[in-house]
Amino acid sequence: MRNEIINLLKKENKLSEEALNEIKDLEINDFSNTIKELGKQKTDYIKESEISKDLNTNFMGKDIYIYKEVSSTNTVAKFLSQHDVKNGAVVISEKQTDAKGRSGKAWASPLGGVWLSVILHPEVDHSKLPMITLAAGVAVAKALEKIGVENPEIKWPNDIMINGKKVCGILTEAVAKFNTIENIILGIGIDANLEVTDFPEELQEGTTTLKEYFGKEIDENLLIKILLEELEEISHLFNENEYERILKEWRKRSYTIGKIVEVRKPFNAYYDAYVIGIGKEGALVVEKIDGTLEKVISGECIIKN
Ligand code: BTN
Repeated sequence: MRNEIINLLKKENKLSEEALNEIKDLEINDFSNTIKELGKQKTDYIKESEISKDLNTNFMGKDIYIYKEVSSTNTVAKFLSQHDVKNGAVVISEKQTDAKGRSGKAWASPLGGVWLSVILHPEVDHSKLPMITLAAGVAVAKALEKIGVENPEIKWPNDIMINGKKVCGILTEAVAKFNTIENIILGIGIDANLEVTDFPEELQEGTTTLKEYFGKEIDENLLIKILLEELEEISHLFNENEYERILKEWRKRSYTIGKIVEVRKPFNAYYDAYVIGIGKEGALVVEKIDGTLEKVISGECIIKN
């Protein structure tokens, strides 16, 4: 982890080789302070002052670190989460060079997107992770509605779709010690001020961007502010165990319920099934061709119709 952070700083080109060598020899606390300080330096278009202006939250986004370029905001967030950052702290980068998607895939993150990771310290066990994942999708969908996107939909578990094309992906990672979750890193990637042609060719057909949707660039700082407010609002529902209300919001925007999908579970054969709904723990409930019902907690569902 330490070397990875040093590498990303190198790539970011904000520190000289000499300074990096010095960092290597610093005590770990000094090192994390350096990373934090770098996250307070000037960036080109993502601005803390803009995000914090009128930010109506109690804890979400009260501590923000913004970088010009990192390997992955989730990696930096994971590191910082272990070095004294507040619940709701956010790591943002204007560009990522080695971003992570779900199922071990890479995530294209050129300049112009909203790439961020929120650090949460919830007191929950692993069984609540699917619900957090769904809740994050609802928060993003609601934020997009607030900036004027009509009818964003959520493809299980939490891809956000506009007109059937993906505009946002979310990667939830837990930092656990033994069986206890210490931190949750909510990595959110929104294809904002980008052209579809900015993405690798094989992704272009299934991808859309906010710029494409609106026909012009959006105010990314405003979107981040609204997103942080929506995340805080849904976290209240979560903390008050109002899971049914979260699920209701999810179901209202579902892209997946009622469709035939190919279920791809880790270490399992693929099978086709009809999606009946979403269960109370956040699992997708599907009916297989032989009529049996199954809950899908993790894995992928490829929509077939
Ligand atoms: C997916 O595969 O749909 C999830 C993509 C998650 C991408 C975001 S961008 C910010 C954060 N940093 C990462 O490396 N990944 C997440």
